[in-house]
Amino acid sequence: MKKIGVLASGRGTNLQSIVKAEERGELAGKVVIVISDRREAYALEYAREKGIKSVYLNPKEFSNREEFDRVMLEQLKNEKVDLVVMAGFMRLLSPLMIEAFPNRIMNIHPALLPAFPGMNGVKQALEYGVKVSGCTVHFVDEGLDTGPIILQEVVPVFPEDTEDTLHERIQTVEHRKYPRAIDLYCRGFLNVEGRRCFIYEPEEQNSAD
Ligand code: GRF
Repeated sequence: MKKIGVLASGRGTNLQSIVKAEERGELAGKVVIVISDRREAYALEYAREKGIKSVYLNPKEFSNREEFDRVMLEQLKNEKVDLVVMAGFMRLLSPLMIEAFPNRIMNIHPALLPAFPGMNGVKQALEYGVKVSGCTVHFVDEGLDTGPIILQEVVPVFPEDTEDTLHERIQTVEHRKYPRAIDLYCRGFLNVEGRRCFIYEPEEQNSAD
């Protein structure tokens, strides 16, 4: 059973979908720690309700990103975390974290990368006028949303969409895609070669992505 550390800054609906998948027995891993840079993040409250170790790190108490990450890394190592999952974590990770967990940090982005990386991916897509957008689960490297792509799914954009309605439709897909990608990792079915991430899943377990 792989140990998962989740980093979250907000509502934590993705965290919830991961924990629910775990509760349904659909995740070959276990969330052992949730870390947030926002005291009021619902993700922390949810973790506490579920009896998961929750840690708040106040960015103001650290002189720079690296110092913050050093303490975060210590917390993750103490829990012997195998995989770090960013679920709406609003901070860029320093090389310290990336080097400590090479191809062992995942992120989910609310657009079809490499289109519309960074902040406000949903707004960027809407303003550009695309007819389809979607979500991307990817490994994290030192760039901004540039790491190897694990799973993607397309979501249609409707003429009447606002940022909120489109984001909501994308999130419905995220809540299915993220636990799936994490489960594939935990089962050892992901293999990264250069920029490409290949899924080697035994035939009988294969389901539509
Ligand atoms: C998600 O839409 C994800 O794509 C983006 O941040 C959002 C986090 O939402 N990286 P939540 O906190 O999991 O509800």
